[in-house]
Formats: sequence, C-alpha cells, structure tokens
Amino acid sequence: MSKNVLITGGAGFIGSHLVRLFVNKYKEYKIINYDLLTYAGNLENISDIETADNYTFVKGDICDSELLKQVFEKYEINAVIHLAAESHVDRSITDPLSFINTNIIGTATLMNVARGYWKDEFEDKRFYHVSTDEVYGSLSETGFFTETTSYDPRSPYSASKASSDHLVRAYYHTYEFPVVISNCSNNYGANQFPEKLIPLFIHNIKNNKPLPVYGKGDNVRDWLWVNDHAQAIDVIFHNAQNGETYNIGGNNEWKNIDLIKILCKIMDQRLGREVGASEKLITYVKDRQGHDKRYAIDATKLKNKLSWEPSITFEEGIEITVDWYLENEDWLNNVTSGAYQSYYEEQYKNR
Ligand code: NAD
Ligand code: TYD
Repeated sequence: MSKNVLITGGAGFIGSHLVRLFVNKYKEYKIINYDLLTYAGNLENISDIETADNYTFVKGDICDSELLKQVFEKYEINAVIHLAAESHVDRSITDPLSFINTNIIGTATLMNVARGYWKDEFEDKRFYHVSTDEVYGSLSETGFFTETTSYDPRSPYSASKASSDHLVRAYYHTYEFPVVISNCSNNYGANQFPEKLIPLFIHNIKNNKPLPVYGKGDNVRDWLWVNDHAQAIDVIFHNAQNGETYNIGGNNEWKNIDLIKILCKIMDQRLGREVGASEKLITYVKDRQGHDKRYAIDATKLKNKLSWEPSITFEEGIEITVDWYLENEDWLNNVTSGAYQSYYEEQYKNR
C-alpha cells in the first residue's frame, strides 16, 4: 500500500536520521516532515534529501490543529511517526510549561486531528509515538526497564512524555486508534544539539572549555547509536501490532565519568594532544535537581519478536560520532552561535 507518512520533528536529531532513512529507502512513500524549527530543529540536518521527489517539508506547530488539518487533507496522510517534542531534561527543569504544552497538548492535538481526518476508520492507518525510557523512572544498581515496568517519571520532561504515552494508550483502548509506542534509551550520533552530554563535551574539549560533570559523575545511562534507533523505528513501524509497546536499547550502560574519559581519550588522539590533556578539563559541578541515577533497557522483546539488534558496538559508534563533529565544524559553529551562548551561560552559571 502507498503510504503518505507525516514525520513530526524531522528537523531534529533523531527525526532527521529517520527522515533520511525513509526518503532513501521507501521511494514509493511520500514523506512529509512537519517541524516548528525550534532552537533544536535545523534544516541543515537533512539538506542532502531536501530536493528528493518523495519529500516535503512543512513548518508548523503540533499544537496548531488548523494547520495540521490542512496538511492531513492536502497530503492524504495515512501514517504518522511522531517525534516532535521538547527533549532536554535541564530545560524542563527551568521551563516545565513548554514541555507540558508541546509534549502533552501537542501530542493530543495531533492525535485528535488524525482521528478526525481518518473518521474513526483505522484500517491501514498507523500512529507511531516515539518515546523515552525516562518514563520508567530511575533504577538503582540492578534491574532493567521492560515494557511492563510501571511508569515513575521524575522530571518535568519525563512526566510530560509519560503523560503523552498514557494519552496515546488511552486513544487505543477507547477508540481503537491504531497506535504503536517505543521507549528508547539515550541516543548519540551526528546532528545532536550540543546541549546533551556527548556533543556538548566534544564541543567543549575542542575549545578547551571546562567539562561540567554533574554530581560525582556516577549516574548511568544506556547509549544507543541514533542510526540504530532509526532502524528500530523502521522495523517497529512496519511490523508491530496495534497497541504494542517496544523498548529499544543498546545493552550498553556507561557511568557518565567513564564515558567522558573515553571521549577525552579519543579527542586527545584526534586533536594530537598529549595523553590526558582533555581529562584535565573535567570539572565536577553542582548536581542536576532530581537527577535520575540509572537507566537500563531490556530490549529482549524487540530482539525476539522483530529480530532487531544494534548494528555496531559503542566503541565503533563513538569514534564515528567524534569524527563527524570534528569534520562538521561549520554545523557545530552554526548551532552554537547566537542564542546558544546565552543558554549556556544561564544553564551553567550557578554550578
Ligand atoms: P530534538 O530536541 O533534537 O528535536 C525535536 C524536534 O522537534 C526539533 O526539530 C524541533 O524543532 C521539533 N519541535 C519541537 N516542538 C515542536 C512543535 N511544537 N511542533 C513541531 N515541531 C516541534 O529531539 P530528539 O532528541 O531528536 O528526540 C526526538 C524524539 O525522541 C522526542 O520525542 C524524544 O522524547 C524522543 N527520544 C529522544 C531520545 C534522545 O536520546 N535524544 C531518546 C529516546 C526518545
Ligand atoms: P543528557 O545528555 O542531558 O541526557 P539525559 O538527561 O536525558 O539522560 O545527560 C546525560 C547524562 O549526563 C545525565 O546523567 C546528566 C549528565 N550531564 C552532565 O554531567 N553534564 C552536563 O553538562 C550534561 C548536559 C549532562
């Protein structure tokens, strides 16, 4: 069946990798990228596919139901992959209301428009909601998040994503709205906005700036290469049953400080610095408020039911990632000019 797929947030980090994958792989589909181009959205991320015949960009807000209705009608949308969101925990601590607006109201608005346009006839329709493992809360030393772990979000970001997940499931149970949800661990890779740990630290190391490690640096995250996340979304989008949830993860846990030391080592090699030079930039700063201790995903369901596994190791992925940021100096300079400077000063001034 021909698919007209609305991808929201396709100018952001994960969305841009997904848009590229779908535009190149599914020439018979029409891909409509709907994105507000907030500070995190950047059309440069997808400049290589912008003239493809099966691709269209629409600048718009997921809270704007009138524009969404027009887009559904004009492009006869029969599938949605929803990534648009406010996505940074630190920003959610300083400005929770924008997260509630975009992540909760925006998701509900988008679903309502889809439901209205599809007139409650859902055969061959799909609404895929992309979510995070942070909805499950914080683990101590042991255990993993599975698809049946109870929700226990602890930051405004994760609470807003959890709310949106609940709404998506409520639409499935109430209206049989054709939903699929995935909850993924921390992503890393090309085109990630340098507010998140890995691109921020690459940028700071390159510029000999302090590396602000929150608390003791002993929080643990489970890292997945962004291209592998995009592949997993592809597999789930095409094969999951309505109403199902899949956890996506790299089985790749790192204590922040250990990951940061690896980054420093690779950067020393790439920049021709003496061994240990970048590690000297490590600066322990005041911890994040309510900092979740550990996230770890059990992705067995995805492996067993849909045969998905990460395609590369973390050691490979992190080298590819560092090289990308070093080779794409213009991209990094562009996104760190202007408003980024004041964000950075404000965010780190009292640490
Ligand atoms: P991002 O912040 O890089 O990109 C978000 C995109 O959404 C941007 O292009 C932005 O312009 C757009 N956007 C924001 N508000 C909008 C609105 N009101 N209307 C339309 N577009 C809007 O985020 P990301 O890291 O690529 O994350 C994408 C999705 O994946 C999010 O839903 C996030 O919760 C989820 N996720 C992210 C990670 C991660 O590690 N980054 C992990 C698991 C899940
Ligand atoms: P981040 O990339 O913001 O992702 P998330 O909070 O969604 O997991 O942060 C990853 C980890 O790195 C998290 O434990 C917080 C920590 N961190 C720092 O120590 N310093 C920083 O400047 C940032 C941005 C994050």
